[in-house]
Amino acid sequence: MKNRVYIFDTTLRDGEQSPGASLNLQDKLTIAHQLARLNVDAIEAGFPVSSQVQFDATRMIAEEVKGPTIVALARCVEIDIDRAAQALEKAKKPRIHVFAATSKIHLEKKFKKNEDEILEMAVAGVRRAKKYFNDIEFSPEDSARTGKEFLFRIVEATIDAGATVINIPDTVGYSNPDEFGQLIAEIRERVPNIHKVILSVHCHNDLGLAVANTLSAIYNGAQQAEVTMNGVGERAGNASLEEVVMALKTRSDFYKKTTKIRTEEIMRTSRLVSSLTGLLIQPNKAIVGSNAFAHESGIHQDAVIKDASTYEIMRPQDVGLEANRIVLGRHSGRHGLKQRLGELGYQLSKPEIDHIYERFLEVADKKKEVYDEDLIALVVGDALQKEVYQLDYFHILSGNRALPSATIQLQRDDQIFQEASVGDGPVDAAYKAIDRIVQLPMQLQNYTLRGVTEGKNAMGEVSVRVKHEERHYVGRGASTDVIEASILAYLNAVNRILTR
Ligand code: KIV
Ligand code: ZN
Repeated sequence: MKNRVYIFDTTLRDGEQSPGASLNLQDKLTIAHQLARLNVDAIEAGFPVSSQVQFDATRMIAEEVKGPTIVALARCVEIDIDRAAQALEKAKKPRIHVFAATSKIHLEKKFKKNEDEILEMAVAGVRRAKKYFNDIEFSPEDSARTGKEFLFRIVEATIDAGATVINIPDTVGYSNPDEFGQLIAEIRERVPNIHKVILSVHCHNDLGLAVANTLSAIYNGAQQAEVTMNGVGERAGNASLEEVVMALKTRSDFYKKTTKIRTEEIMRTSRLVSSLTGLLIQPNKAIVGSNAFAHESGIHQDAVIKDASTYEIMRPQDVGLEANRIVLGRHSGRHGLKQRLGELGYQLSKPEIDHIYERFLEVADKKKEVYDEDLIALVVGDALQKEVYQLDYFHILSGNRALPSATIQLQRDDQIFQEASVGDGPVDAAYKAIDRIVQLPMQLQNYTLRGVTEGKNAMGEVSVRVKHEERHYVGRGASTDVIEASILAYLNAVNRILTR
């Protein structure tokens, strides 16, 4: 498979380290299933030793998600490796990914160890991981700033210790395409046993070069790309999956490489990750931004109508971007809804379908035409979330000369709660009334509203991020009424706190 590039997705590990993104177990599992549909080769599911949630998520994904290799991250420390192995117990294709920093800066400032000590630690780490599984990846963290002689030495030693994948990270996004490509070419030339492993790269985007560095590395012999959906990740993020994959596909004449990604699943995966993490996608983002296939200038529009290839280098269908399709309406039954959701990748239980059907009917009544995007917004915001408080009723009074006020009625089990409040605006008033009912110390940190589809009766999707006891929670809600969507999003966050 000389021309194949393996796609290693780290959305659930490095991507989840994005400031503000925090996913619960169900979110992670939903994303992992979609990544399997996208047909990635490997899913880095988490860093099990770092928290119980990370451990449980990795374990659940290892047990339930079939197809890709499931990877768990560990430092070269016994407890990390043992926890990673435990979390991966049920995986059909498990891989432990051990890492140790190798740059002078990290050695001196972080570890206070010399090169020989780090090399010994890395070799011991790979050997311990190898006792559990065959497939072991080693990353010399901050490779791009590591002295080359030491980098070649540690790569050779960890391959001798049993590593099957060697990953070269540009941890701080310091490199540039020429330099990084050259580094990969030199590793290929100078490390005598490199042909025994898959050579991988992992680039961060601090200078906006993560995708360019990844592609240059592939051009120079890297066989695996570590990427995230929408480019989410620590600080400025990681190389974006969709950009790397579509560059390889669109310019196969140049790179002469293929992946086995089902590119028609890109858009759906992108939207799911954006909804669940609460990290919005900029409109001009390559491949998945809302403007990526939009033509504004009259000259361009005219030419595209004559022949799309004049201004389109990729077909929108190839990334899963089809014209909004009317799929269901108010006369559609539960069965039709269940079937369409199944086609969209959501296998829901009967109670979940019953619940989402009620919401679907409300939307269909207001909107008449219900698009795929509307259904996804409903499912993501609603059905998968266990509800503690449910919205019974709301009444809002607002106007440019009125003091905005809100009355909210919520139900918890058989109990009904009602509160009213004034606020700086209708949403603020509603959130204050909810605060009075639920009595949870929390601060709203972020609020975003976007139209899911186009037109006057489009559904609005609201995403909020709240902080409660030093943790962040994302809540989502969707409705044709943006105030209702706002209330549902806030309640969704409250319910996530209560069911954590
Ligand atoms: O950026 C990095 O170096 C990492 C390693 C753990 C691979 O994320
Ligand atoms: Zn990273």
